[in-house]
Amino acid sequence: MSTKSFNFTHAITRRPSSSVVSGLRSTERGVPNFELMEGHHLDYVNALKQAGAKVIELDPLEDFPDSVFVEDTALCLPEGAILMRPGAPSRLNEVEYIAPHLRKLYKNVFEIKGPGTIEAGDILTTEKEILIGRSSRTNIEGISELTLMLEQWNYKVTEVITPPGILHFKTDCSLLDNNTILSTERLAATGCFESYKVILTYPGEEDAANTIRYNNLVLAPKGFPKTTRRLLKSGFNVVEIGNTECAKIDGGMSCLSLRFSPKK
Ligand code: GLY
Repeated sequence: MSTKSFNFTHAITRRPSSSVVSGLRSTERGVPNFELMEGHHLDYVNALKQAGAKVIELDPLEDFPDSVFVEDTALCLPEGAILMRPGAPSRLNEVEYIAPHLRKLYKNVFEIKGPGTIEAGDILTTEKEILIGRSSRTNIEGISELTLMLEQWNYKVTEVITPPGILHFKTDCSLLDNNTILSTERLAATGCFESYKVILTYPGEEDAANTIRYNNLVLAPKGFPKTTRRLLKSGFNVVEIGNTECAKIDGGMSCLSLRFSPKK
């Protein structure tokens, strides 16, 4: 059975620029090693291809240190794509460098016009609803504008809260299948996944929560063996990808791609 939340044909990625070492970060965890990040990025793209993705690999954008994290610029659904309005001022104009690529692939491309802000790192699409986490980057106005837009396709939108100190809602969770979510304990404790089966990250391995399910594979960050074991025990096919350098600037598996099946 094909699903809209994890069965895809395409992905868009953007290679990191050397300016990525100046990417935004919530806490200082050291300067990312650019060459190592490039290697991890290549592994990531190869894993997407292994999962069956036609990957559109975009060139680096030196003026935008965080532009490797393409996910935040758009919400891609089967019916169309919606260009976001990032809440980080340095990221606002990244959207115009993604828009032409989505317009080539989709008939319907809409945009959040503001004044609200919203980043797709705060949006988790599941089979039954779209969860949107209010955060320091995504505000009520942004959520309202997107919710109105999604009414045309009959999506149920549920507003949730990104825990304080966490960059994005999906920093702490990811979709594993039709009804299963991987989550940190602190996020699950807010009650936002009460109607789902939840697999918790192992205590102390909270950075393992951000994975992606792409067709039959789960791309997960390397270095969190106890959480990976939980996923394997639950029957998921896991590919581990190094993420130490992106993690220094609050980036994870989902941030690094847009995943979708375009409709012209
Ligand atoms: N460094 C990722 C972000 O702040 O958006």
